[in-house]
Amino acid sequence: MVARKVHDEFHLAWKLAVISTDQFSPADIDEIFMVAGRMAAQPGHPLAGKTLANLFYEPSTRTSSSFHAAMTRLGGSVIPINEVHYSSVSKGESLEDTVRTLACYVDIIVLRHSDDDAAERAVKVCDVPIINGGNGTGEHPTQALLDLYTIWKERGRIDGLTVTMMGDLKYGRTVHSLAKLLRMYDVGLNFVSPETLRLPKEYLRDGDRQFAGLDQVIADTDVLYVTRVQKERCAPDPTIDISYAVTADDMARAAPDMVLMHPLPRVGEIPPELDTDPRAAYFRQMKYGLFVRMALLATMLGWG
Ligand code: NCD
Repeated sequence: MVARKVHDEFHLAWKLAVISTDQFSPADIDEIFMVAGRMAAQPGHPLAGKTLANLFYEPSTRTSSSFHAAMTRLGGSVIPINEVHYSSVSKGESLEDTVRTLACYVDIIVLRHSDDDAAERAVKVCDVPIINGGNGTGEHPTQALLDLYTIWKERGRIDGLTVTMMGDLKYGRTVHSLAKLLRMYDVGLNFVSPETLRLPKEYLRDGDRQFAGLDQVIADTDVLYVTRVQKERCAPDPTIDISYAVTADDMARAAPDMVLMHPLPRVGEIPPELDTDPRAAYFRQMKYGLFVRMALLATMLGWG
């Protein structure tokens, strides 16, 4: 079990398992982005004969279907377990046994689970590469990679930008992963959230700025990254107003080349009226995500 051996030695190589954005160096990211560019142009079918298992214990539209599309575009096939209730999980099978079972049939597994330690537990018993497709409130490393790729494609650089993250910064795993990735670059970070949904201390660094609203930061923001309240992970106090949204006024005050992003799904934080604004990048973001996920699958399965 190569992944387990490497894991036990603590340094987990991302080509064996993608668990956290901590595993990537800037050179790794350059490599993934270079391959993503080739994937957008002419991928061919390098993964013909390979199979991916999409093991999703939590709802998903984008992550599961983009990995599915990525694998089939590369010539591979997919075992989709998007609704674990129809699998032996409903009979009480453990995560470990389910992962061990799928590893007998497939070459790589994407796992989404509500437990923060799920991906680490899975790696310990799995002898094929695993990709963390979201572990509870912890991380969502492939989303962060595609978010970073979107910033790079839209702005042509990452260094020197000011990124403002707005929303549920406490429970939002995409924010946690992206904040860690952005720390590897010369990027200014602002965090805008309701008081009760602030970024946990472990992700904060000296120089970060925290705000209750967009007013003070919108004009100086190069990238505005918005997330929804993770209501399945917290029980908001109905007496406290935690609603927030980007408005047309905010966009009028924002720079003409600001990039507006959202991992989606959105539930009111960005009104559909803003979709036609050329700065609204959240649909392009999904397309970039397909190429980044193709790059990850191809590279982890030994292409190139
Ligand atoms: C995110 C997730 O699952 O964490 N969705 C996604 O993968 N694009 C964000 C969310 O659900 O709010």
